[in-house]
Amino acid sequence: MEKKVLITGADGMLAMDFADVLSEKSGYVIVKMNRQKLDITDRNAVCSAMTQVKPDYVIHTAALSDVDYCEENRAHAFQVNGYGTENIAYYAQKVKAKFVYISTCALFGDEIRKYTESDPVVLKTVYAKAKYFGEEKTKEWCDRYFIVRPGWLFGGNINHKRNFVYQRYREALNFPEIYSAADQYGCPTYTRHLSYRIIELMETDSYGVYHISNSGSATRYEYVKKIVRTFGLNNKIHPVDSDFFKRKAPAPLCVMIKNANLSIKGFGLLSDWNTAVEEYIDRLKKELP
Ligand SMILES: NC(=O)c1ccc[n+]([C@@H]2O[C@H](COP(=O)([O-])OP(=O)(O)OC[C@H]3O[C@@H](n4cnc5c(N)ncnc54)[C@H](OP(=O)(O)O)[C@@H]3O)[C@@H](O)[C@H]2O)c1
Repeated sequence: MEKKVLITGADGMLAMDFADVLSEKSGYVIVKMNRQKLDITDRNAVCSAMTQVKPDYVIHTAALSDVDYCEENRAHAFQVNGYGTENIAYYAQKVKAKFVYISTCALFGDEIRKYTESDPVVLKTVYAKAKYFGEEKTKEWCDRYFIVRPGWLFGGNINHKRNFVYQRYREALNFPEIYSAADQYGCPTYTRHLSYRIIELMETDSYGVYHISNSGSATRYEYVKKIVRTFGLNNKIHPVDSDFFKRKAPAPLCVMIKNANLSIKGFGLLSDWNTAVEEYIDRLKKELP
């Protein structure tokens, strides 16, 4: 019998790629709920969507993902990323669905090292606090949950506001010189690769918290350089400190993650981020105006 998968925030970058990857597999009916169809902050709407659809799986991607916006709009950040997640977690449990909550890698501090799932969190930003509150509510309400903390995400289409790769391409077309932070460390992660691993995970009973990223790590500067060169562009790229950019949120310098639980539980690690960027840019080029 086919399994129903309800996706929140279905117009988002990860959600669209997840739905696309899942549609390649048989045995699933995908129910896409974008913000217009289901505002996760509306508890009654969440209750009726869950009880009408009765999903077997809930993939909760909806969020306010702009870290600087969250810093200046604390109440809204908690309303969506915190209490909105609680609404979804609560009703996922009520209808006995497996719950996948997409959290974040941005839960750690400035120490330059790879963080594992068992490292204590250092919540520097409002975004981190609200997303982590969502993790706590997931654990409080759900028996069968996967909390997924992805690395720096790339993917989606050219209309996605969070499409980092396309934004850098546009920047490179418009400016001969580019500045990028060489003191920020992370793990670039392709949404399609992440989606394959989430699907593999959710089909098991290996519940828990998972760091998931493409293999390897990079500074923002190295990441941007890779993107620009893969597009075949020769812009001069300057490594700078984060202070060069005026940001509202005190974002952590290091969000590198070690995919320890994937390894421990025998799931494969994702491919190197450099080849993942190349694969995505090949795909994106077909879409460019
Ligand atoms: N991007 C990254 O680098 C990154 C890294 C680690 C983790 N994450 C997490 O991964 C998930 C997906 O990120 P993404 O980059 O794909 O984000 P995204 O493109 O911004 O997608 C988020 C979606 O959530 C929707 N949304 C916002 N408020 C909502 C509400 N009240 N009810 C229902 N939907 C709502 C947004 O709709 P509107 O656009 O219409 O408001 C948007 O379509 C998020 O949970 C994010 O926190 C992202």
